[in-house]
Amino acid sequence: MDVRSSVGGRSRPGGGVGAGTSHGVLLLNSNGMDFVYTGDRITYKVIGGVLDLYFFPGPSPEAVMNQYTELIGRPTPMPYWSFGFHQCRYGYKTVADLEGVVAGYAKANIPLEVMWTDIDYMDAYKDFTLDPINFPVEKMKEFVSSLHKNSKKYVLILDPGISVNETYGTYIRGMQADIFIKREGAPYLGRVWPGPVYFPDFLHPSSESYWGGEIKRFHDVLPFDGLWIDMNELSNFNDPQPLPSTLDNPPYKMNNAGVHRPINNKTIPATSLHFGNISEYNAHNLYGLLEAKATNEALVNVTGKRPFILSRSTFVSSGKHTAHWTGDNAATWDDLAYSIPAILNSGLFGIPMVGADICGFTQDTSEELCNRWIQLGAFYPFARDHSNKGTIRQELYLWESVAASARVVLGLCYRLLPYLYTLMYEANRRGIPIARPLFFSFPEDTMTYNINSQFLIGKGLMVTPVLKSGAQTVDAYFPSGNWFDLFNYSNSVSTASGMNVMLNAPPDHPHLHVREGNILAMQGEAMTTEAARRTPFKLLVVVDGHGNSTGQVFLDDGDDVEMGGEGNKWTLVKFYCEKTGNGVVVRSEVVNGEFALIEKWVIDKVTILGLRKGTRMTRLRGHELPNDVEATSGQRTVKTMGKSSDGGEFAIAEVSELSLPLGKTFKLEVKVKVRQS
Ligand code: NOJ
Repeated sequence: MDVRSSVGGRSRPGGGVGAGTSHGVLLLNSNGMDFVYTGDRITYKVIGGVLDLYFFPGPSPEAVMNQYTELIGRPTPMPYWSFGFHQCRYGYKTVADLEGVVAGYAKANIPLEVMWTDIDYMDAYKDFTLDPINFPVEKMKEFVSSLHKNSKKYVLILDPGISVNETYGTYIRGMQADIFIKREGAPYLGRVWPGPVYFPDFLHPSSESYWGGEIKRFHDVLPFDGLWIDMNELSNFNDPQPLPSTLDNPPYKMNNAGVHRPINNKTIPATSLHFGNISEYNAHNLYGLLEAKATNEALVNVTGKRPFILSRSTFVSSGKHTAHWTGDNAATWDDLAYSIPAILNSGLFGIPMVGADICGFTQDTSEELCNRWIQLGAFYPFARDHSNKGTIRQELYLWESVAASARVVLGLCYRLLPYLYTLMYEANRRGIPIARPLFFSFPEDTMTYNINSQFLIGKGLMVTPVLKSGAQTVDAYFPSGNWFDLFNYSNSVSTASGMNVMLNAPPDHPHLHVREGNILAMQGEAMTTEAARRTPFKLLVVVDGHGNSTGQVFLDDGDDVEMGGEGNKWTLVKFYCEKTGNGVVVRSEVVNGEFALIEKWVIDKVTILGLRKGTRMTRLRGHELPNDVEATSGQRTVKTMGKSSDGGEFAIAEVSELSLPLGKTFKLEVKVKVRQS
């Protein structure tokens, strides 16, 4: 996507670009390619296929995403639980090791939603098997069942390479179905973790039933909640010898990790063939997408629930089937910083559920780095701590400073779950990313265009992480408006047209700011997303200079296959704050309120930020809209008349002990009087 500005002085040939307009360009081509961007032009160097170019006129960044994902497919909804915190490691040794990690989180009072296992659980690295010594089936069943009893989830890894082994059912059934990718008439022999492997061909019409069948068999043994599909570029430890063909030896060598290398480098040969004689040369980039699609369908069939899949390889429209992580980063400050543009790009590609390995994958992390990483990573849409075998352990409870930060940031993240989940809904409906570059909300502010050290969650929540070792401050850019510190509402930054601010950022001080004009639907803090969902809602209303703000919340059961589909198993509530003659009115509009009523969700607190200091609330009144009398009768009492405390220039107005049913429209009047000094 390109954002242009008349201030920046660029214009499209043919002219007519207004300030802050955006457009998108997609080259839909699955062949190998390099592209070079020089600021004013893009050069595509494509080694095959069709030149299918699409243009998305925008003119806003949101409109570009809407147009692009209308073409390629909307991002698939993610289960509610997947917005909780995930712990993984390559190198967990035994079931007892896993149990120890879960206990470590509980003891440290840090929320842990999902426990993962890497290839360690497998018997000789064979998919759909369990190591009989270290991860024996009975113990694993008990482990997963105890996770489930405690409202936690379990995700495990699968690799595409199927071990060539005559005693291995998955291999035998694959051979029977003739499912593997071939070269010169026989299955192509690669080498990955188990040693010699064949790779399922996801272009084969029977691949979904083969793959789905294997997933079902294994799920019948161990009821996992999600699947992590790795190494699906395809990764091959061998470097296949080229056949004397231009496919294996094209004249143009693409850039591969910074160097122009042979096309078959560490993957399966370009001359291998998929079903229908489609060459790997043409289909290589589609493998991860097709595997994600087959895995998604398999999980829907097996569980009947909304799948959670994490894929390393992606292509245009992968977001329709899977989440994504940014691959093997290093435990370095550079990679901490790179994680921001990496997750923002994924959102722009149409894969909004994305994260980077928190605390870093390769190399030993450090206490300071891990501390700063969780302060940032808690706000990746997908938040998972993951590390490589042989590195030091990096579970968040291992250092007191990291544990303390984790409690703070994950505490806030869990309170924000309804907001995050509603962003998932917006992504699913219109393709708008969950984590967004600043220019999304401020396309006319050219200062935002190059910022990749901060980002927005949704429209108006800004994350400003510390990305440097030893830093006690962080340089932040604040686009125009009043911004309130979510960890301390008394701290605010106000700017008419945008400004740079140096924020104090000692190791225990993360920064998240909410902008005027937003209403955030939040809930209480808890150790699991399920427990958080049972707490009352709290509205954070941040009024703008005119006393206005808006927000919405989408709710369903969190793991229905569809999000907001047919039927009324979901509720959408829109919130508005408007100025009245002598105060503000906060009110709601409800679509399909029945679901929220059945769940008995109530709002128990409304906090209003942005009213000027000197404002004193004289009267607070909760009352129902005339057509909703029945629903709210008996629930209308405002027990506490609210307090107004000083927050720098602004007052913090709080109405608590409310009991407003979320599923019914409400109207809450806050009358204010300007104190005469
Ligand atoms: C490569 C993946 O990127 C990494 O996350 C994983 O730990 C290893 N494969 C081992 O499965």
